[in-house]
Amino acid sequence: MTASEARPLTATRHFPPGFLWGAATAAYQIEGASAEDGRTPSIWDTFSHTPGKVFGGHTGDVAVDHYHRFRDDVRLMRELGLTAYRFSVSWSRVQPTGRGPAVQKGLDFYRALVDELLDAGIRPALTLYHWDLPQELEDAGGWPERATAERFGAYAALVADALGDRVERWTTLNEPWCTAFLGYGSGVHAPGRTDPVAALRAAHHLNLAHGLGVQALRAALPPRAEVGVSLNLHEVRPLTNAPGDLDAARRIDAVGNRVWLGPMLDGAYPEDLPADTARLTDWSFVRPGDTATAHQPLDFLGVNYYTPTLVSAGGDGSAGGDGGHGGGTSSPWPAADEVAFHQPPGDLTAMGWSVDASGLYDLLTRLSRRYPELPLYVTENGAAYEDAVGADGAVHDPERIAYVHAHLEAVHRAVEGGADVRGYFLWSLLDNFEWAYGYDKRFGAVHVDYDTQVRTPKASAHWYGRVARSGELPELPGA
Ligand code: FCB
Repeated sequence: MTASEARPLTATRHFPPGFLWGAATAAYQIEGASAEDGRTPSIWDTFSHTPGKVFGGHTGDVAVDHYHRFRDDVRLMRELGLTAYRFSVSWSRVQPTGRGPAVQKGLDFYRALVDELLDAGIRPALTLYHWDLPQELEDAGGWPERATAERFGAYAALVADALGDRVERWTTLNEPWCTAFLGYGSGVHAPGRTDPVAALRAAHHLNLAHGLGVQALRAALPPRAEVGVSLNLHEVRPLTNAPGDLDAARRIDAVGNRVWLGPMLDGAYPEDLPADTARLTDWSFVRPGDTATAHQPLDFLGVNYYTPTLVSAGGDGSAGGDGGHGGGTSSPWPAADEVAFHQPPGDLTAMGWSVDASGLYDLLTRLSRRYPELPLYVTENGAAYEDAVGADGAVHDPERIAYVHAHLEAVHRAVEGGADVRGYFLWSLLDNFEWAYGYDKRFGAVHVDYDTQVRTPKASAHWYGRVARSGELPELPGA
């Protein structure tokens, strides 16, 4: 047993000085103002307006009206004591058709947001792409087409030119796994296609887009800027150590994790991936030089973690393992019909996701051993619960506090073990549009009344703010 394992669970844990304490959001989930100031539809506008795609027919048309209320939202963050904020830029707000010059009003919104953050002493972390492709680019073929990656490079340059003087931390893509495999594989996310070959093509063009995006950012940003990517790496665990179960885990690790880590961090696709998927495609869409382009030096890796993935041999070919964002009739896992997905042990959140912070510890520890020079940030972690404003006007969410506490403890243990983790971004600042679940799932530290747009910080927001201000994780109340 190591010293850190021997520590009583209730001791206060001190995080390193300079550790960033943030919250995260994404443009389509919070902004609203979907047709204002020149913004044109993204694939999520189209998808959410298609009957039957999103719970209750909900859309992001208004969302939590952050486009008009961002000053109040930044004030809330400052009052809570956050030191960083991760947000995404809506591509169709700043370059409506995905081509050509920028729309000044769109850029002005993000400049105003960033200035407000800087004035409040909050460090902005900007994500260029959090799933909202301009619809015109999807009409031209979307991510399965190479041209979309090239468009992304041009878009990255345009945002960097506008905001490079004031944003220090840049992320190319958020969770490209979801874009490729939920968007084009299982179809539960926009654009809702169910074609495993298109999903694999999309994955490759996202890797390429990442590389082209990094190149464009480096060309435009001052040297002090940090550039990275946020991946939802699956903490894949085999049900048993039987060879079939180990092979199932290997296969899901390949198409869930190494499909990104290979090109982006190692400069090549893992050899087992084309072999596993050979019955679908010969991967001839990968052109000479592509993986070298995807393989750009990075300043950090963003890790998004919520729950582990438990697999075994013996899948029946049904659409199991939905990746957590809702099931469809197709699987998001190409050529993995023989893999069975299981509910991991642990209490469940309102998403049905098992709470198991050991997954975050294992993930961070493994990554830091595999890529010892690469700083890590937890760019998303959090939980949905059925929160309501009580008769006392407060929102009591002890489950969320327990969830975040356990995961921060896991981060701290990883840091003590040598992992270079430099910050934590809670998903999410505000209750928001949770993709296929619409407004039915509340992930916010701050409750939003969707009729009045009134914001009420939950107990977890006050608790997390105290952790952020002190840099110390105290023992869990009641522990
Ligand atoms: C992640 C997404 C984020 C949110 C959380 C719950 O996969 O990046 O937008 O939906 O899940």
